[in-house]
Amino acid sequence: MKDLINNNLQETMDLIPNSIVKEAMAYSLLGDGKRLRSQLLLSLLKDFEVDVTKGLPFASSLEMIHTYSLVHDDLPAMDDDDYRRHRLTNHKVYGEGMAILAGDALLTYSFQNCLQSSLSDGIVLTCIEILSRNAGIYGMILGQELDIDNQMKTLDDLIVSYEHKTGKLFAAAFEMAVVIAGKKDKQELASTLGHKLGVLFQVQDDLLEYTKSFEEIGKDVKSDVLEEKVTVVTLLGLDEAINYKEKLVQSFYDDLELLGGTGNTVKNLIDEIVKRNY
Ligand code: IPE
Ligand code: IPE
Ligand code: MG
Ligand code: MG
Repeated sequence: MKDLINNNLQETMDLIPNSIVKEAMAYSLLGDGKRLRSQLLLSLLKDFEVDVTKGLPFASSLEMIHTYSLVHDDLPAMDDDDYRRHRLTNHKVYGEGMAILAGDALLTYSFQNCLQSSLSDGIVLTCIEILSRNAGIYGMILGQELDIDNQMKTLDDLIVSYEHKTGKLFAAAFEMAVVIAGKKDKQELASTLGHKLGVLFQVQDDLLEYTKSFEEIGKDVKSDVLEEKVTVVTLLGLDEAINYKEKLVQSFYDDLELLGGTGNTVKNLIDEIVKRNY
């Protein structure tokens, strides 16, 4: 499934005339990403017994939006990180101006790319609505605002920021899958599942960052630690944070049952995400 996505991303990029910004887009987009959000969308279709290629343009568009968010997230004005996906960040290679443009271009091209779909205009339009709502000021951008502002005082505040920052792009995958599968009545549940998976993913990240920085003193300290970011570990302590994660996993799987579907493709993918070791 990952190959299918990577090939589609390559083909889509090949349509663009050569330029420096195109090169910068390709550098980040065709790098070594886990492709979780796009694989999630295609896995859901598979479990709904829908031809997965129907979801391909939207899966690629989602990866473009995710990649743009990372290119901008790494900029000096944001997290100021030098490495991403095992290599230098976009602005370290192409300069800040080109990296900003590459991010802008990935975002706008993601919407243009949806028009490659041969599904009905109604489905394409609904998917574009889902992508724009979850990526923009109702979604991931608001999450990035909360993250930069770093004023979360309670666990509830932190959860809201995680639901937006990370959960909204997962929600886009779930929502587009149910729409493409003709199960629009499940769209609200799909959105909730995305939020829960985003929180779960981020809590897992907090745990990994905490234990890693604890064990690997002397190695690179992440920007989060340097900036004293509020995390689930700083709010709850390590033991409670681990308990909290277990509760989230249970609640997520309960909701996943309600979504229906016949196969285990999604479950296997989620297992990979939640069973990364502490
Ligand atoms: C990293 O996401 C950024 C977050 C939203 C926490 P991933 O871990 O899915 O990044 P890639 O695509 O595999 O690099
Ligand atoms: C990135 O979050 C989330 C988005 C770009 C939306 P983080 O800043 O916490 O993740 P990493 O550590 O850079 O991957
Ligand atoms: Mg960040
Ligand atoms: Mg970051």
